[in-house]
Amino acid sequence: MKWVKALQEITPYKPGRSIEDVIQHYGLKEVVKLASNENPYGCAPSVQEWINSASIHTEIYPDGFAASLRGKLAEKHGVDEGAILFGNGSDEIVTIISRALLGPDTNTVMAATTFPQYAHNAKIEGAEIREIPLTDNGQHDLDGFLQAIDEQTAVVWICNPNNPTGNLIPSDDLKSFLEKVPSDVLVVLDEAYFEYITDPGHVDSMTWLNQFSNISILRTFSKAYGLAAYRIGYAISDPTIITELNKVRNPFNNNSFALSVAEKAIEDEAFIEQCRALNHQQRERFKQYAQEKNIRLYDSETNFVLMEVPNDTDVASEKLLHDGLIVRSGNALGIPGFVRITIGSEEQNDKLFQAFDRLWMEG
Ligand SMILES: Cc1ncc(COP(=O)(O)O)c(C=O)c1O
Repeated sequence: MKWVKALQEITPYKPGRSIEDVIQHYGLKEVVKLASNENPYGCAPSVQEWINSASIHTEIYPDGFAASLRGKLAEKHGVDEGAILFGNGSDEIVTIISRALLGPDTNTVMAATTFPQYAHNAKIEGAEIREIPLTDNGQHDLDGFLQAIDEQTAVVWICNPNNPTGNLIPSDDLKSFLEKVPSDVLVVLDEAYFEYITDPGHVDSMTWLNQFSNISILRTFSKAYGLAAYRIGYAISDPTIITELNKVRNPFNNNSFALSVAEKAIEDEAFIEQCRALNHQQRERFKQYAQEKNIRLYDSETNFVLMEVPNDTDVASEKLLHDGLIVRSGNALGIPGFVRITIGSEEQNDKLFQAFDRLWMEG
């Protein structure tokens, strides 16, 4: 086969282990998955109720323009309808942006370590990848980013808050960074965890859209909305950017049912507020736990934390599996010595803390 060269450098995405697999493999009755930053409270009850009673015309193609959801989101964010691009999850938006802007003559700048799909897609397109190491506390080194940007830079990826560290970039720092980036470089602000931010100083980047015509803000229904299974993400940018990105998008990339579910979900903002508050409460418990036990923990404004483990990260993850807890090993994420844990419900976190106590006792 005449595969494109880039495939020699990459491997298929390796998902974390499923609950069913771990139950079977370890002979457990109950397993808690805290590995993929899903919402432990599911989706809004109003959405679930709607899903249970909904029916669709299965023979009809979806609305490729997603007009109904588009109208509601445009109103929610106070943007033009032409400023929105929908993807099959924000994963697909990353692919669309890469396909539209990256190629062998370009480079792309991102943090190391950050969401792996930026580099994955850039490799497929044959672009040069410029990775800027995070600072010691897991923050983006924005000065380092500026130094790396040159004439050939097409896309800059800012994951804010960052996955896997959870850090939020102070709004003033980010804004003064944006002021310095050349206006023909697309700056992607991937805000998959936006709904979990509680920092009172945080400024919603949607308010910057008029000032910066070269930003693209990515949001998703997969995290706080609890709709990962339906795969709806979106980008908001200047309409001239969306027009170009739309040339690359497949015509029916979101299915009809998922579009309707997302539309229902944005009617229930009370559920998002409730999840934000519950997550914040539980995130504080992680901070307190780490402080009491003198374990290192990165500052997080998301629904996950990176917490230190006493021995090899893969060994620690394996021990946690024996205790019925699926977490993400830092070795796979590029942060050895830590595991990434999705913040669960109170009960799930109780179980996690007990298992962590055992982990540190055994050393
Ligand atoms: C930072 C970040 N961006 C994008 C995504 C992709 O989300 P989705 O494709 O489900 O919208 C994720 C998922 O974990 C993520 O952590």
